[in-house]
Amino acid sequence: MKQARTTIIAGNWKMNYGPSRAAQFTMEILPQLNQITHHDYNLLCILCPPAISIPAVHQLLHMGRYTHIELGAQNMYFEEQGAFTGELSPHMVRELCSTVILGHSERRMYFGETDEQVHKKTLAAFKHGLRPIVCIGENLAQYEAGQTEQVIRTQVQGALAQLPEEKLGDLVVAYEPIWAIGTGRAATPEIAGNVTGLIRQLYGEMYGHEAAAALHILYGGSVTVANIGTFIIHPEIDGALVGGASLKPDFVELVRQAAESSLL
Ligand code: 13P
Repeated sequence: MKQARTTIIAGNWKMNYGPSRAAQFTMEILPQLNQITHHDYNLLCILCPPAISIPAVHQLLHMGRYTHIELGAQNMYFEEQGAFTGELSPHMVRELCSTVILGHSERRMYFGETDEQVHKKTLAAFKHGLRPIVCIGENLAQYEAGQTEQVIRTQVQGALAQLPEEKLGDLVVAYEPIWAIGTGRAATPEIAGNVTGLIRQLYGEMYGHEAAAALHILYGGSVTVANIGTFIIHPEIDGALVGGASLKPDFVELVRQAAESSLL
């Protein structure tokens, strides 16, 4: 087996599937997903529907007690409660979810989220027992200008500094190069592996070798059934954050490939 870290496949549905469609799709994929995750595979699958659809999916998961299939939100605010129209508090998210995606590039791009906010949200997630999936990644211009390392360093140091050491085991980082998101132009496993290796190194400089060895780092950006295996077998990559391909029934096949590849 390539490593002791659990393989994580998270499906980020983004702004797709309202409550009825979300329930319908979940019912379609759950039986098979459950078969895969119930095997000996060291694999966790996390579904991240839009906030309004979370209760519908939660109900289905809860009814079946799918222990290796969990639920995640796509965002949350860091304050506990109050006059923040349109936001979800960490406590609200924790009622139905184990996980929360934070600092997705679409949040950063369209809603102006900063590393400082992502840092606050990460602390709030820890405080409430949520598993944060913190997203980082460079855009096309930065990639082409050879600035990836610098951008990643700034994001890691900005969003992941001064975290409580006793909670670090809950943290997941997703490397999502913006140029690979929704473009059909996935990074090569080599590029993704180099950057995830860099993230582990930077993280190790902050929290030590042991914490770095335990950190789960996912790759995201045009992951499909066809390429998932090539990412999973890379020793630095612990899973994937999947967008478009998590909305189709063959997401099940993608998860199966990930499970099988994680045993190689
Ligand atoms: P795609 O898989 O659609 O490229 O999206 C990736 C992503 O942004 C997941 O968070």
